[in-house]
Amino acid sequence: METDIARILIHRDRIEARIRELAAEIAATYDGEDAGLTLVPILSGSIIFVADLIRRLPLKMKLALVQLSTYPGTATSPADPRTVLELTADVAGRHVLVIDDILDSGRTLRRVQAMIRARGPRSLRAAVLLRKPGQAPPDVPVDFVGFDIDDLFVVGYGLDYGDLYRNYPHVAVLHTELTS
Ligand code: IMP
Ligand code: MG
Repeated sequence: METDIARILIHRDRIEARIRELAAEIAATYDGEDAGLTLVPILSGSIIFVADLIRRLPLKMKLALVQLSTYPGTATSPADPRTVLELTADVAGRHVLVIDDILDSGRTLRRVQAMIRARGPRSLRAAVLLRKPGQAPPDVPVDFVGFDIDDLFVVGYGLDYGDLYRNYPHVAVLHTELTS
């Protein structure tokens, strides 16, 4: 795996530090309302992020999972997102925080936000670890952002290429010949 990585973009130590800050921001936002909070991680890319984030969140919360597939196989440009797993728990009347690994075109998040809005949540917010700047349309609001990155295809810390590299501990860029 190591030999496929061209360079580390965000070291695990920086990710850890930023997650502490994000957790504090999120905790302050839901202060006093935590009993009604449901986090919705979008599988599979958000699993590492959500696992680290929720252990820093001193809030009473539930999880509801959802899975979409945006980049089939080893494609690096988005197709229309397909729902692979419907929301695993009811979010009606709950404060919902959707969690994703990366905001790129915004199609994935738009789809999930529409799915949740249709179920009557009490509030709806979103958190992403990474955001590619200038791409997400204004109708896809995001409340918490870990890092803004350049328009690069990245892997590691949950993000995959062909379902590989999710376990690489840093956010990294692959050698170009692997993704072209
Ligand atoms: P969007 O729907 O275009 O915003 O893309 C978001 C989804 O595509 C994320 O949930 C990721 O799984 C995937 N994705 C977008 N950019 C990257 C990347 O650079 N590396 C790996 N996955 C990505
Ligand atoms: Mg994903």
